[in-house]
Amino acid sequence: MKTTGNTIFFTGGTSGIGLELARRFRDLGNTVIISGRRKDLLDQLAATDQLEGVLLDVADPDSIATAFADVTARHDVNVLITMAGIMQSENLQDPAHLATSEAIVDINLLGTIRTITTFLPYLQQQADPVVMTVSSGLAFVPLALTPTYNATKAAVHSYTQSLRLQLAGTNLQVIELVPPAVQTNLLDGAAPDPTWMPLDEFADETITLLQQHPDAEEILVDRVHFLRAAERENHYAEVVTALNAGH
Ligand SMILES: NC(=O)c1ccc[n+]([C@@H]2O[C@H](COP(=O)([O-])OP(=O)(O)OC[C@H]3O[C@@H](n4cnc5c(N)ncnc54)[C@H](OP(=O)(O)O)[C@@H]3O)[C@@H](O)[C@H]2O)c1
Repeated sequence: MKTTGNTIFFTGGTSGIGLELARRFRDLGNTVIISGRRKDLLDQLAATDQLEGVLLDVADPDSIATAFADVTARHDVNVLITMAGIMQSENLQDPAHLATSEAIVDINLLGTIRTITTFLPYLQQQADPVVMTVSSGLAFVPLALTPTYNATKAAVHSYTQSLRLQLAGTNLQVIELVPPAVQTNLLDGAAPDPTWMPLDEFADETITLLQQHPDAEEILVDRVHFLRAAERENHYAEVVTALNAGH
């Protein structure tokens, strides 16, 4: 994808990776619209960061339809980034985890599918259309603490591949952003671990990769390679052990 002159709609973007990338894209000369459930943050970011925001809950199909109609009435969106996601720890031996599981599938997987389904026919009429999904290094190696999260990200990875295959030969580019552990409040809404990748560094490297590889299918910063390549390079068991040590 080109990194300037786009009109980019993010699901999510009120915090963390989405917000940081939204700021970078805005500074590179793109029109950026963020979204999310936290209206207070959307209002604040419109004032402090001049980022246009739209209220959206990807767990609610009506909310997606309303946001789509609203955004596309005002903008010619050519890039959709499905950033919205939640990550919660679960104890699979406690049946109470099921409600958590269902919420994670609803937002991370069904939310991604619903949003892409809503935007796809419209995007295909635009110039330089792009769908960027957001999986995770945990799509490739499981963190035992977050079983359903890992599973939804593996599913997003697979869905993204099928989308790319079905759209081969069309002008729509499908990109998968595969972050490593990055310092945000994603996991249970808690403070990040300082050993995770600093958000600024992640955003810098991501933008650089997009600039250097406009035809990229996957955006993989250095710190995620050990997870993405674990199985292919026959380190899978060691990487599973190392990733889960201390949890
Ligand atoms: N941080 C990491 O280590 C890491 C690693 C790999 C992948 N990722 C992925 O990166 C994405 C962003 O996560 P983050 O780390 O930046 O965490 P974050 O700061 O918690 O951001 C999550 C974003 O998703 C939005 N969101 C959550 N549920 C939503 C819903 N139902 N409808 C609409 N928006 C919703 C949130 O907005 P509201 O709360 O305002 O709705 C927020 O803007 C996620 O998909 C995550 O899985 C993160």
